Amino acid sequence: MASHWEEFYATHLPPSDFEDNRMLLKEFCDRHNKSGDRIVLVTSGGTTVPLEHNTVRFVDNFSAGTRGAASAEYFLEHGYAVIFMHRLKSLEPYTRHFNGQKFMDMLELNDRGPNTTITVKPDSVDVLAPILANYKVAQDNGKILYVTFTTVSDYFWLLRSACECLQPLGTKALLYLAAAVSDFYIPSNQMPTHKIQSGAGAPTISLQLVPKLLAPLVSLWVPQAYVVSFKLETDESILITKARDSLNKYKHKLVIGNILQTRRQKVVFVTPESSYEVSLTRDQMMNAMEIEDLIVSNIVIGHSDYIGSFKY
Ligand code: PMT
Repeated sequence: MASHWEEFYATHLPPSDFEDNRMLLKEFCDRHNKSGDRIVLVTSGGTTVPLEHNTVRFVDNFSAGTRGAASAEYFLEHGYAVIFMHRLKSLEPYTRHFNGQKFMDMLELNDRGPNTTITVKPDSVDVLAPILANYKVAQDNGKILYVTFTTVSDYFWLLRSACECLQPLGTKALLYLAAAVSDFYIPSNQMPTHKIQSGAGAPTISLQLVPKLLAPLVSLWVPQAYVVSFKLETDESILITKARDSLNKYKHKLVIGNILQTRRQKVVFVTPESSYEVSLTRDQMMNAMEIEDLIVSNIVIGHSDYIGSFKY
C-alpha cells in the first residue's frame, strides 16, 4: 500500500515550471559538488492551500520569510552555496533590507527634467555598500540559486527534487527547513474546479492532514545530510516536548524551537542529547544584530563536527 506522502505525489501534478527548476537544481548541485563546496538548502516563507483549482481563494499563513532570507545571507558568509527555496514574493536575501519605502527613502532625485539623475543619499551609502558588495559576490560566483513555490503541492515537488540533486553530496549537504508548511489541505480530487459561489450559502470546507515530508526526506532522500527542522508554537510550555517528539520520530540532527511572538529574540536548540537556548542580549539587539547570525554560526559548528565524525 502506498504511504501517505506517496499518495500525495500520485494525486498532485508537478507545477508548470518544475522541469526548469529541476535542471537548475541539478546544475547547481553538480557544480558545487565538484568544487567540494558545502550546500545548504534553505526553505523559507509559507505555503498556500488553494480552495479551488482555478484559484481565487486560498488559506495562507503569517510567515514573511525573514528567518530564511536572513539565514541565507549568513550561510553565504560562512562559505556555503545556498539553494534559496522560497515562497514567491516573500523576503529574499539582500533585497529584504530595502523593502518598500525604505528603498525610496535612500534615494535622491536631482535636477528634475531632461538631465535627471538619481543618487544614493550620503548617509545611506554606508548601509547600502556592504549589502550590495555581499550580493555581488554571491551572484558573480554563482553561490546562490533562487527557486520559488506558492502552494503546498509546489513545495512538495520542489523539495523532493532538491533532495534528489543534493543526495550525491552526502554529509556536505545541509537542510535548513524554516518554511512554514501547511499542515492541512484539500485533496485535489475534492477541490471544486471553479470559484466557490456565495449564492449557495456558506460552504463547509473539510481539510485533511498534509503528510510530513521529514519522514521520507531523512530516511530515503538524503539519509547522510545534516537535517535541521524548525518547530513553531504559541504555547511555550509544549515547545521542547514537541521538538523532542519530532527528533525521536524522524531521527534527524536538530530541531530549532521558536515561539511566534519572541522568534526574533530567542530560539531553543534541541538535539538528541540536549537542549539549550540561543538568544540575543540587550546590547546585541540595540546594535541591530540578528538572531539568525547566532543560529547559523551554531549550526555551522554542528555541521562541521558531523562531517568530521565521518572521517575516521
Ligand atoms: O518567516 P518568518 O516570519 O521569519 O518566521 C519564521 C518561522 C517561524 C516560520 C520559522 O522559524 C519556523 O518555525 N518554521 C517552521 C514552522 C513550523 O512550525 O513548522 P511545523 O511544525 O508545521 O513543521 C515542523 C517541521 O516539519 C518543519 O521544519 C517543516 O519543514 C516540516 N514539515 C512540515 C509540514 C510537512 N507537511 N512536512 C514537513 O516535513
